[in-house]
Amino acid sequence: MPASASGVGDRPKKKTFLDRHQILERNVTLLAIFAFLVVTIGGIVQIAPLFWLENTIEEVEGMRPYTPLELTGRDIYIREGCYVCHSQMIRPMRDEVERYGHYSLAAESQYDHPFQWGSKRTGPDLARVGGRYSNAWHVDHLRDPQSVVPESVMPKYGYLEERLIDGRYVDELLATHKLVGVPYEDAHIENARADFKAQADPDSDYDGLIERYGESAQVANFDGRPGISEADALIAYLQMLGTLVDFSTFTPVASR
Ligand code: HEC
Repeated sequence: MPASASGVGDRPKKKTFLDRHQILERNVTLLAIFAFLVVTIGGIVQIAPLFWLENTIEEVEGMRPYTPLELTGRDIYIREGCYVCHSQMIRPMRDEVERYGHYSLAAESQYDHPFQWGSKRTGPDLARVGGRYSNAWHVDHLRDPQSVVPESVMPKYGYLEERLIDGRYVDELLATHKLVGVPYEDAHIENARADFKAQADPDSDYDGLIERYGESAQVANFDGRPGISEADALIAYLQMLGTLVDFSTFTPVASR
């Protein structure tokens, strides 16, 4: 419409912010570029501080890297897909804390690569299952879960007892974890095979193991059978879960 037709005194309308926004709305490529920019900025603002904040993981007494046997058990846990049915992350909500114990601390998964928080609970959370049952219970339960919990839908894992392992590559397993930041020292790696064997044999000389990992390293013939089996390693791992931090003396930084 020519300016003269709309009456005297009309001035060209000033462009509002929304008018300018129409440029973006009408051009898919521009919209994508700007959406990407906005999301990037938002992402950086959220994530970047975590790299510099010193309190992202508060230091907690008692936490130590996994022993070679536990680390092997952890690999079996991952291989068998236990994480598909079990979480290892107690949320700070009353029902969870009453059922499973103190909520999980960031420090408790600091040596987990990858972490085992899980995303689904077909079975219960396992973050603090360590020490809740005897080794013999775990053997029975893995062999035939329905024999101890009749309504259980957990599969049988009896074959883990049959599969003997010798920790041949366990030093390399530790070295790999060191590579991604777990503070294993040379002594841990050099003695990995010896520590692996010592932990599964209460008659062995396991002083070195205790010296390197502390009293929290449990020494036992976990599956009660001769030789070291995958079940030994897996139970060693399960019995350690959630037992490292002493919650009778622990106070979170926030409430100190
Ligand atoms: C198909 C899902 C499923 C898979 C896979 C599974 N579980 Fe379970 N698990 C359960 C269910 C359900 C229960 C609860 C009933 C019971 O105790 O058997 C349970 C219970 C347990 C318990 C006892 C927990 C407690 O606090 O009473 C342990 C320990 C356990 N599972 C370990 C494992 C391990 C180790 C693996 C891998 C080798 C595994 N589960 C794989 C479903 C599963």
